Amino acid sequence: MTPELTVAEQAALTSGRDAWHTTPVESAGLPSLTVTDGPHGVRLSAKPSDMLRGQPATCFPPAVATASTWDPGLLRRMGEALGDECRAMDVSVLLGPGINLKRSPLGGRNFEYFSEDPLLAGVLAAAWVNGLQSRNVGASLKHFAVNSQETDRMRVSADVDERTLREMYLSAFRRVVTRARPWTVMCAYNKVNGVYASQNHWLLTEVLRDEWGYDGVVVSDWGAVADRVAAVAAGLDLTMPGPDDAGDNELIEAVATGRLDPALLSRPAERVRALIDKAAARIPGDYDQEAHHELAREIAGRAIVLLKNDTLPGSDRGLLPLPTDGTGTIAVIGEFARTPRYQGGGSSQITPTRLDDALTEITATTQATVLFAPGYLTADSAAAESAAQDGETEAESDQDLLAEAVALAGASDVALVFVGSTHETEGADRDSIDLPEAHQKLIAEVAKVNPRTVVILSNGAVLATSPWDKTVPAVLEGWLLGQAGGSAIADVLFGRVNPSGRLAETIPLSIKDHPSYLDFPGEHGHVRYGEGLFVGYRGFDAREQEVAYAFGFGLSYTTFGYGQATATATPAGIEVRVPVTNTGERDGREVVQVYVSLPGSAVQRASRELKAFASVPVKAGETEHVVLAIDRDDLAYWDTRLDRWVVEGGEYQCAVGASSRDLRTTATVKVDGDDIRVPLTAQSTLGEWLADPRGAQAIAQAFAGTGEGWGPMAPFFADPAVMLFLSATPLVRLSGWEGSPLTAEVIAKLVTAVGEA
Ligand code: BGC
Repeated sequence: MTPELTVAEQAALTSGRDAWHTTPVESAGLPSLTVTDGPHGVRLSAKPSDMLRGQPATCFPPAVATASTWDPGLLRRMGEALGDECRAMDVSVLLGPGINLKRSPLGGRNFEYFSEDPLLAGVLAAAWVNGLQSRNVGASLKHFAVNSQETDRMRVSADVDERTLREMYLSAFRRVVTRARPWTVMCAYNKVNGVYASQNHWLLTEVLRDEWGYDGVVVSDWGAVADRVAAVAAGLDLTMPGPDDAGDNELIEAVATGRLDPALLSRPAERVRALIDKAAARIPGDYDQEAHHELAREIAGRAIVLLKNDTLPGSDRGLLPLPTDGTGTIAVIGEFARTPRYQGGGSSQITPTRLDDALTEITATTQATVLFAPGYLTADSAAAESAAQDGETEAESDQDLLAEAVALAGASDVALVFVGSTHETEGADRDSIDLPEAHQKLIAEVAKVNPRTVVILSNGAVLATSPWDKTVPAVLEGWLLGQAGGSAIADVLFGRVNPSGRLAETIPLSIKDHPSYLDFPGEHGHVRYGEGLFVGYRGFDAREQEVAYAFGFGLSYTTFGYGQATATATPAGIEVRVPVTNTGERDGREVVQVYVSLPGSAVQRASRELKAFASVPVKAGETEHVVLAIDRDDLAYWDTRLDRWVVEGGEYQCAVGASSRDLRTTATVKVDGDDIRVPLTAQSTLGEWLADPRGAQAIAQAFAGTGEGWGPMAPFFADPAVMLFLSATPLVRLSGWEGSPLTAEVIAKLVTAVGEA
C-alpha cells in the first residue's frame, strides 16, 4: 500500500506525463520513467512530440525474421543487446515484444509478431524478455490480447471461444508471463468477446493475476483506455500516453463518491512504484555500435529461409551458394537490392545506425562483375522519376525498367532478382498476399532469358510464391532483416552462412485456402475466430490441404538424416531423443521439430502440434544426439466443462522431423492422464452416465429396483440403434416416459448419490 500518497498523487502516478514518460511524484521521491518502442530497436525520440522518429539505434531484424531462426539463444542475445542500448539511452522499459498470433497472412503487424504457433512465439519471446531484463530494463509484453488484426483495431471485438482463446491466443502470453516475468504487460486496443481489453476484468485480473500470478504493471496500449475508472477497476495499472488530467480527475471523484474502492487505485500506484524501484537498479552503460551491427547481421543471416535450390542440368548441386571467386557477370536486379526494405511502418520504426544494402555487399564479396538494373519503380523512385521525367507515367517507366533488366539478365551468367511487398504497417491490414504485378512480371521475363535466376524476397508477412516459384531454380525468403540485412543476404548467397532459417508461418498456395479466410477481418465491430483451434498449419493439416511451403520448412546447403526417435514419459512431461546426422559436406544447422498427436482423443485436436524444437549445429559427417523436453503442461487442453487444464491419458505420438510436413521418425509414449471427473447431472446424457463407472452403477441399481431388468424400457435398450439415440438423450428427458423408473425424484437421488460417491 502507499499510505503516503494522496489519491490525487496515486491517480497522477498511474498515468503518463507525456507520450514517453510516467508522471513523477516528487513529494514521495518517485521519479519519472522513460518508456519507448520497441521491439527490434530502441526508438527514443529526441522530443516527446516526435512521436515516430527516433534517435539512431541498432535496427535489429523484426520478429518476422527473428522467429525464423527458431533459436531462443539468439533471441536472448538480441534482448541483452537491446538492454545495453536502453542503458545507454536511459530507457527503463522497452515496449515489446509483440507476441500476438499470426492468425491471417493479411495481418498488418505480422512483421512485428513471431508465429502462427503459440509455443514457438512463447519460447522465443521469453528468451528475448529474459535477455532484456538481465540488464535491468523492463519488457512490455504486448498486445494482451487477441490483437491479430489491424482493421478496426481500436473497436473491434475479437470473438473467440474459450478453449481457442486459452490454447492458442493466450498461450504464448501465459508462457512468457510465468517463465520470464516481464516487468510490464501492455493491454490491446481491441475488445475480447465484447469487452475492451483495457476494461476486461476477466483478462487483466482473473486470468493474468489470479491464475498466472502476475505481479507486474499492466500498461495500456497508447490511447487504449476508453473509461479510466472502468479500466482501473478491471486491473489496469498505468494509462499511456499522458497527460490524462480528465482521467485522473475521474478517478479522484470515483474514490470520493465511493464508486471506486480506494484499494483498487492504491494497488496500481503501488505496482508503478515497484516498477520505479526495479528500474532504479539499472546502471548506465554504453554499447559498441559495430558489435551490435554484427549481431544484427548474424541474426539476419540465421533468419533467411532457403525455399528452393534446384540442381541445374550438368551440375551435381543446387544453384546456391554462388562461388566468391566466380568469373563472368552477376546481374543484380530490383530496386530492393539497392534500397532495402528492412523494417515495417508504425511505432516500431527505428532510425538505424547504418544500413547495408545487398548490391554493395554482393559487389564486395565476389570477384565476378556485378551489374545492376532497378527493374521496377518503388513508391520513392516513382516520385523521383516522375519529377525528373516531367509527368511520364509510372507504367511507362516500369516498362523501360523491365526491358533494361531483362536485357541485363540475358547477358549475365546469374540473375539475382530482388522483389517483395511494397509496404507493411501498423494500423492497416493488407488486402492481398500477391507480389506486385511489376515484380511478378520481372521474375517471369528474367526467368525466360536466364535459367540461373535466384529470387530474393523482402516482405514482412507471407507472400504467395505460386506459381512463379516454378519458373526459377532458387528462392530465398529474406523477410525484413533490419539494418544488416544486405550483408546477411550476401552471406547466404555466397555460402559464408549456411541457411538454417525455418518458416514460422505457412506459405499457402492461395489466400483462399487459409483457415482464417472466411472470417477475416470481420464486419460491424466483430470478428469471429471461426476456425477455432485450427490456426495456420493446424488448419491446413486437419484438411490435408496442399501448401506452397509448410510450417517449419527451410533448406540448407547440406542435408540431414534422422535416426530412430525414442520418447520417455517423465514426471515433467515427455523426453524425446533423436540422433541427427549431417549427411552432406558442409557444416550446418538443423532445426529439429517435435509434433505431437493423440489419436483417438476424446476432444477435438489438431492432427499435430509443435511441442518442442531445437536449433542444433551439426558438423559435416557428424551426428548429434538431440534431446528435447516436452512439458506436461503443454500437453493439456482446456476443458470447458471443468474450467481447467486437463492432460488426457493415452498413447501420444511424437513425430520428429524438419517441418510439419516432413516427419522422419515417430516415437509413441504412454502418458497417464489427470484424474478428472466431470460431474454427472440430470442434464448429462444416458451415454455419459453409462461411461462413468459410478454413474453406470447408479443407473443399473435404479433399473434393478423395477424388478424387471430395464423394466418397460428393456426392448428399447436391447436394440443397438435405439440405444444410440437413447445414449445421446439427457437423463432428465427420459423421465417423462410412461413406466420409466427414471422419475424426477429418482434422477435427483442419482445425482446426489454420484455427487457424494
Ligand atoms: C502500438 C504499440 C506501441 C505504442 C507506443 C501503439 O500504437 O500499438 O505497439 O508500443 O503505440 O508507440
